[in-house]
Parts: sequence; C-alpha cells; structure tokens
Amino acid sequence: MIRIDINRLSDGQKLNSPVLDSRGRLLIGEGIPLNSQMVKHLKELGLQFIPIEVSGYEDINQLEVISRKVEMFMKKEANEIFKAARKTAMINPERIINAVDYVMNDMLAKGKTGIVVDDLRTNKDFIFDHLTRVCIYSGILGTALGLNDLRLRTLMITAYLHDVGLALIDDEDILSGSYVTDKPSYKIQEHPKLGRDLCARAGFPSIISRSLYQHHERIDGKGYPRGLLEKDITLYAKIISVVNVYDALTSPLPKRKPYLPNEALEFIMALSNSAFDKDILKVFLKKVVPYPPGTLVLLSDNQICVVKDCNNDLPLRPILKTYAYLDGGQVKYIDNPSTVDLKNNLNLTIVGQVDSAGKIIDYETSSISSNLENIDDEELKNDITKKISNKKIVRFKRSVKLIDKSKP
Ligand SMILES: [Fe+2]
Repeated sequence: MIRIDINRLSDGQKLNSPVLDSRGRLLIGEGIPLNSQMVKHLKELGLQFIPIEVSGYEDINQLEVISRKVEMFMKKEANEIFKAARKTAMINPERIINAVDYVMNDMLAKGKTGIVVDDLRTNKDFIFDHLTRVCIYSGILGTALGLNDLRLRTLMITAYLHDVGLALIDDEDILSGSYVTDKPSYKIQEHPKLGRDLCARAGFPSIISRSLYQHHERIDGKGYPRGLLEKDITLYAKIISVVNVYDALTSPLPKRKPYLPNEALEFIMALSNSAFDKDILKVFLKKVVPYPPGTLVLLSDNQICVVKDCNNDLPLRPILKTYAYLDGGQVKYIDNPSTVDLKNNLNLTIVGQVDSAGKIIDYETSSISSNLENIDDEELKNDITKKISNKKIVRFKRSVKLIDKSKP
C-alpha cells in the first residue's frame, strides 16, 4: 500500500481498505477499481491521502492501534450516546464504561502504540470520529506516561466523553462556531459545562466531570471556561487537551482540509509554553507518527522510500522500503525494493515528504529542531543538527516530477 494524494488518483487504482461512515456503513469498498465518479465522492468526503494497492508494496499496511471492528463499534456507540443525550439530557454510564473497556482491552492486546492519523476518515459526523480518536490517542499517551490501568480507564472515559456537551448544542452552532483554532463562539464555550453536568447526573466520579470541564483550559490561564492556571488543571485534562487539538487539526472538516501531521505538530509546538504541559508534550511527540506507513519520503541521500513500519518511540526513524531515487531532479525507479531501517542507518535522515503530485512537502528546519528534544540518542541528535546547520535540506525545496509507478 502507498498513500496517494487524492488529486493524483487515476481510474483503475484500488483502495486497500474500505471507506465507511461513522455507523459502519460501506461508502466505497476495497479492491474495486476506482472511477472518476468514486474519486469525486472521496473528495466530497474530505479525504486527502488514499491508501492504494501498488505492486511490490502489498506488504505495507496501515498501523492499526485498535482493530477496525472495535473502532467502528466506538463510533456507533458515540453516535448513540449523543442521540440519547439530545433526547433525554442523560447519558448511560454502563454503556460508556463497556465501550471503553472494550477498546482498552483491544489496544493492550494489539500492543501497537502510535498516534497515527486515519486517512479514511470522512468529514461526515466528525464528532463521533473525534470522540473515538481522542479516546484512543489519550490511551496511548496515558500508557506512555505510565498511568496504571485504573487511571488509564478514568482517562479514556473522560476522553471518550470530553465533547459530549456538544450534544446539547445545535449542529448549526457547532459547525459555525469553529471550536479549535479560532476563537470559539459563546455557545461553543458552553460545551464543557454542559458535558460536566451530563457526567455528574450520570453518577460518574467527580474527577471525570471535573477533568472533562477543564479540557479547553490552558496552562497560561487563557483557556476556557474558567481561565484556570496550570496547578489547578487535572492531569487528565492536560493530556486530553493536547490530543484534542492534534486530532481536530488532522481531521477533515466540512469547511477545512486536514493539517498534515507535521503541520499540526508545528501548531502544537508553538503553544508548548502557553497552552500545553511541557512534560506531557515531550511524551506526546515521541508517540506521534509524522510519517504513517505508506507515506513517500525523501532521504538525505536522495532516495525516495515508502514508510513500511514505525520504530516505537523514534517517530523520525521508521523502517522504509526503497521506491525510487532522485538523479539530477529526475525520478529513477528501482526494480528490486530493499528495506532500510533508519534506526540502524544513522547517517540517513528524512528531509521531506513527497506527495504524489510531484512536490516535496518540506520537513521544515524548525520542525526538525523542535523534535530534537524528543530524541534520546546523542549521536543521532548531532547528526540531524549537522544536517540542519549544513542547510542540506534547502536544495530539496523544488518540485520533482514523480511518475506514479502503479499507472499503466
Ligand atoms: Fe471540546
């Protein structure tokens, strides 16, 4: 599988996974040759990168932190919880706890830990996807922070419910009150309080309703609803606030394209001393996968590779499979791909993501610098620093015509 920019999809290419809506209904099936009508539909659904089958790269699969079946169950449950809250102004705690236990067990059984974006999310029913992903991401981050099972469960319940207050706000207000990057509307600012009251009425422990109430607070006191300072914000709220913003930025919304993981990281890093707890952020950066499996990347030695798998806690050093190389600005393809594990090849670094429209999406110097903190290996850190100071990456700021191998 290779992730292809939607604007470069052509007739006959095949999706390697189905596109489903938040209730698990099939929108476009896997393995079916795509036609222009289907591509148009995928664009309308807000998809940006599409995982397609490419000969020779069938062994590359999406990183599944939880199984699709469990993920779909979580989304359906979130939908039901919202519906019930709208109808009765009540939420059912048993149902919520069961769903979180289900996802927690699946996550622990899979043993994969990486905060990785899902290319096949659609812009329909954003909120149910969002609650599910914030719950999963919080679980990953909480585990990395060393929370025991009981605290992890409390964190994941809070994360799953964090925006449940939106159920009591009209859809129109939610869509028009852009609630993450811009100044949220007065009505949107009500949702932490509404969510807290729903939780309290359902009999959840006060740590859950309190943390939910605080998920838009910032450590500098400029958050809402109360403008609390760092010392008064719970650990759970601090964890959820980071993953909440990351997920909202990387999600397709009806009126906005998703940010690339790198761009979302830039955004979050810029707020490291004002909105987010520094220690949590440090662990978060280790867990975010900026180049998900299937991504085409350019290496410092001009090789173009496909990300095959992730090395735990080394987000910038994945395992790759060679694809092509740059020769004087021309792309030359490789007949026999080989594997390159960047963990063991410290002389190589990723200098950019190549999109299949032929442009190199630069991995900005600032972004590499901000991720340096994240790397424990001194030798590797020096190596990257040297690359930055030599400004070797500047020469990659040009467009390269990349011919799609999978096209006839
Ligand atoms: Fe929220």
